[in-house]
Amino acid sequence: MESRVSVFGTGYLGATHAACMAELGHEVLGVDVDTEKLKKLEAGEVPFYEPGLEDVLRRNIAAGRLRFTTSYQEAADFADIHFIGVGTPQKKGEFAADMAFVNSVVEDLAPLLERPSVIFGKSTVPVGTAERLGARARKLAPAGELVEVAWNPEFLREGFAVKDTLHPDRLVLGVDRNRPGRAELVAREVYAKLLKEGIPFLVTDLATAELVKASANAFLATKISFINAISEVCEAAGADVTELADAIGHDVRIGRRFLNAGIGFGGGCLPKDIRAFMARAGELGADQALTFLREVDNINMRRRTRMVELAREACGSLLGARVAVLGAAFKPDSDDVRDSPALNVAGQIQLQGAAVSVYDPKAMGNSKVLFPTLAYSDSVYDACDGADVVLVLTEWPEFCQLQPADLADVVRKKVLIDGRNCLTPSDWRNAGWIYRGMGRP
Ligand code: UDX
Repeated sequence: MESRVSVFGTGYLGATHAACMAELGHEVLGVDVDTEKLKKLEAGEVPFYEPGLEDVLRRNIAAGRLRFTTSYQEAADFADIHFIGVGTPQKKGEFAADMAFVNSVVEDLAPLLERPSVIFGKSTVPVGTAERLGARARKLAPAGELVEVAWNPEFLREGFAVKDTLHPDRLVLGVDRNRPGRAELVAREVYAKLLKEGIPFLVTDLATAELVKASANAFLATKISFINAISEVCEAAGADVTELADAIGHDVRIGRRFLNAGIGFGGGCLPKDIRAFMARAGELGADQALTFLREVDNINMRRRTRMVELAREACGSLLGARVAVLGAAFKPDSDDVRDSPALNVAGQIQLQGAAVSVYDPKAMGNSKVLFPTLAYSDSVYDACDGADVVLVLTEWPEFCQLQPADLADVVRKKVLIDGRNCLTPSDWRNAGWIYRGMGRP
């Protein structure tokens, strides 16, 4: 059955969720306070790079199923099902998540809810948030006890956002077990098409659903830092971490995915989510349980420093050296540069006196805003012009397909450091280059 839903927040999560809910046949109203963003979305333009999303957006706007507004009143009049997909960034100077956006959606929406309604939170939040927001919504809403808050965490990856939303590995729904209500039934209707395809649907209590998301991200971060820690040992022992990952990954209990060693994880989720998870465990008196995540974070940050060291070793001194940086996005198929390892490395190298030239196929605009003092080039070749060392820091296909002959006449010295282990060492070495990987001999 088609429903009317509103989605608060039109960032990576909210815009994707709104467009995909419309794709499932629902009538959707996307709500945001940012009028510029809404203007773009209304014109069928996605304000960030996400493969496939623009098609879904345009198709559903054209079909009349998807609209946008800044008006909470309009959302409350339009729908009885509301999704919250606003950001929960890291607080300045603290590990904890900043809940201001999530809180304000509930503070501003609840007083307008005159009919029985379900609010589904999708944002990644500290455990206990849903229960707190439920109490607040019931207190503020004219419909009182007939307003429910449930938690439906989102697991989408940037670059695969549409696929992950329309074909998720699983759906998780946390409901308030102390107040049996309609949330599960409503979710089953909203996601009926996915459930028909056999997507697993797990219903839990509120706290468990919140923790599922935090633990999933903590596990992924741990897996990456595990292989990066092993890559440090590989470097010391002269072993090859990529062959090692292939070999241990054959064990189905381990699995090969998320075992790519390199300059580590970044982005708007994993780094801040593990920190928020530690902070929340501390508040709950369970800080001992997650101290290992501190080490996961440390290992991750050490990989960036290691990359800077490798660049310094390659140049002798970074002072006055020309360094080509290929990649700025925190991962390929994204223009997101939040906590990007690539830009962090580029910044550190520049601070040490090198002339850095950065190129990224999609993230140049965002990079220039975040790091206006770095120098940028319009192509791989411009970036590598006269370089003493070439650093591959994001594994865009364009970089992974580079051939030694492509760059041989452009660079000053044939030295390449592969921060994502995405190139074949023998190709480069046989062509007379010095090739260094991360955790490779
Ligand atoms: C992540 C989770 O995967 C997703 O489920 C959650 O909803 C949000 O956070 P995302 O941040 O989009 O998604 O990116 P992801 O693909 O997980 O990559 C995160 C970072 O880890 C990137 O910087 C990537 O380069 C790095 N990474 C990933 C590695 O360094 N090695 C790997 O093997 C995998």
